[in-house]
Amino acid sequence: MTTREKIYRILAGSDVVVSGEKLSEALGISRVSVWKHIKGMVGDGIPVVSSPKGYRLDNDPDSLHPLGFDRRRTSVHYFRETGSTMDEALELARHGCPGMTVVVADRQRQGRGRMRREWDSAGGGLYFTIIVRPEIPVLRASLVNLAAALELCLLLQEEYAIQARLKWPNDILVDGKKICGLLAQMGTEGDLVEYLSIGIGLNVNNEVDAVNTPAVSMKQILGEKVPRREVLLGFLDRYERRLEQFDADEVIALWRRNNTTLGRQVRVKTVRETHKGKAVDIDELGGLILEAPDGSWQTVVHGDCFYANG
Ligand code: BTN
Repeated sequence: MTTREKIYRILAGSDVVVSGEKLSEALGISRVSVWKHIKGMVGDGIPVVSSPKGYRLDNDPDSLHPLGFDRRRTSVHYFRETGSTMDEALELARHGCPGMTVVVADRQRQGRGRMRREWDSAGGGLYFTIIVRPEIPVLRASLVNLAAALELCLLLQEEYAIQARLKWPNDILVDGKKICGLLAQMGTEGDLVEYLSIGIGLNVNNEVDAVNTPAVSMKQILGEKVPRREVLLGFLDRYERRLEQFDADEVIALWRRNNTTLGRQVRVKTVRETHKGKAVDIDELGGLILEAPDGSWQTVVHGDCFYANG
């Protein structure tokens, strides 16, 4: 355990202010050294409050600093600001990081959405990328992405009483307004998935950018600020459980029960073409089955989906 981790533990375990003297005794370092460590911690975004009596942790549940993630702290990589968590995650994935590694940032300068769109990443939102390493053929990768959107959707419903619904392939909507978007990248080894890097942008306490798409945040819906660490931890626990006991039929059944896409007339745009039809189902790999006016069926496996009526 590093000195910083030890300081964090002591402060986290105390209800009262801990003096510099007590910390220096417990750690066997000088008070100046304690002070230097604490200064560094504050610089890294750890909410340690100093007073003439000593130090205490302002255990801000909104803080995304890894030290607040208990057993997950070594797998959370936190940035106050970065270009995109997708790029940071790609580096980690290529260097062999374990599955369930998370990159999270308070802000992104170049947040990316699907179809080469920008993802507005103003302060207060939850922006993270999770790297998973399911041992599955490439063909089944979409199911693992679908499961991420599903678990986030169910978390919003069950823990926050938000009427969240899925929109194929990977959006989450509330009353037709976007609250969350997912972007996935994959590394492969032959026909197998080497890693999946799933980027998630959730409107939590941020001002939403509803210029192009109607959007909404958790704060707007609930009327109060929501601690982001709790949301992220809730998702990680659910998603990890889901991956450990992965059951594709169950994921698809739950997706069917919680979506707003099936039964609608849709347009699915890919970079090259647009498919139109009535969304009748998803197949066993998560592809969207469209029925054309002449009754023929076609399955689309990726693209951006637009509803004909709102
Ligand atoms: C979309 O709906 O178009 C997908 C949006 C995905 C945004 C997230 S925010 C965290 C991660 N980093 C990025 O640059 N993008 C994803």
